[in-house]
Amino acid sequence: MKIRKIVFPVGGLGTRFFPITRAIPKEMLGIIDKPLIHYAFEEAVKAGIEEFIFVTRHGKDSIEDYFDYMFSHTDYFNIKIGSICYVRQNKPKGLGHAVLCAKNLVNNEPFAVMSADDFIFSSKSCLKEMIEHYNGSNMVATMQVEPQEVSKYGILDIEKEEGKLVYAKSVDEKPDLSEAKSNYAVIGRYILSSEIFEILENLEPGVGNEIQLTDALLKMIPKCGLVGFKFDGHRFDCGSKEGLLSAILYIASHDKSLNHVVENFFKGKY
Ligand code: G1P
Repeated sequence: MKIRKIVFPVGGLGTRFFPITRAIPKEMLGIIDKPLIHYAFEEAVKAGIEEFIFVTRHGKDSIEDYFDYMFSHTDYFNIKIGSICYVRQNKPKGLGHAVLCAKNLVNNEPFAVMSADDFIFSSKSCLKEMIEHYNGSNMVATMQVEPQEVSKYGILDIEKEEGKLVYAKSVDEKPDLSEAKSNYAVIGRYILSSEIFEILENLEPGVGNEIQLTDALLKMIPKCGLVGFKFDGHRFDCGSKEGLLSAILYIASHDKSLNHVVENFFKGKY
C-alpha cells in the first residue's frame, strides 16, 4: 500500500541536551555535517513519501531554515515544491498530542510518523521496508533492548512472530522491568491508520501526564491489530548523549575520509 504522508514530531524540548537545546533544536544536532533531521528526512524520501509534515514549536525555526536552504540551494532532496509544511504544537503534551496536531494535514489516509532522534543506519530505508510490509494494521518499528532499558520505551506484549513481523496483543508505555511483557521496544517509526486521530482526541493523559501514542495504539488493537517490524541496521538513541556520540563515531568510522581520525583516537594519538 502506498503511504504518501509523514509526520515528524519535532516539538520536544530536548532536556537531556540542555544547555545546547536551549537555543538549538535537538533535531538540528549534527552527525558530522548533517543534522539528525536530515537523516530522518532522507529515509522518508527513500521510502517514497510525498508530503512532509513537521509538528514544530517556538524555538525550532532553524529546522524550517534548514529545509528552505536545502530546497532552494541544492537538489539534494528532489521533491515537489509545496510538499513540506509546518504545524505548531503549542504545548508540550506528548507524542500522541504532537501527532494529533497534524490531523487536518493528514486527513483520511494511512500515514507515517518518524522520530528524528531514533537514528537508524542501514543500507535500506527502515521506513521503506515497513511500508512494503504494511497491511492495514498499525505498525511500529521494534527491536529487543536490554532489561534495564525497558522502562524507557513502549513495550510490546507479543502474541506471535513471523519472520520480520511480531504481532502484539498489547503495548505498555514505559513499564517497570518487573511488569514488562517482553523486551521488544517500540522505536520511532510508525505507520498508522487515520482513525487514530479520533482516539487521540478522546484520550486521557498517561505516563508523565502526557497524551501517549502507545495508549492510542493499545485502544485500536481489537479493531486493527498492532504489528512490530524488526528492522535491519544499527539504531542509535540520539535523544541521549551516549547515543549521539555513538552515532557520530559509527558514521565517522564508516567514512573513508574520516575513519583515520577515529583510529588515531583509539591509538591514543590525541
Ligand atoms: C517515545 C514513545 C515510546 C517509544 C520511544 C522510542 O518515548 O512514547 O513508546 O518507545 O519514543 O524512542 P520518548 O522517548 O519520547 O519518551
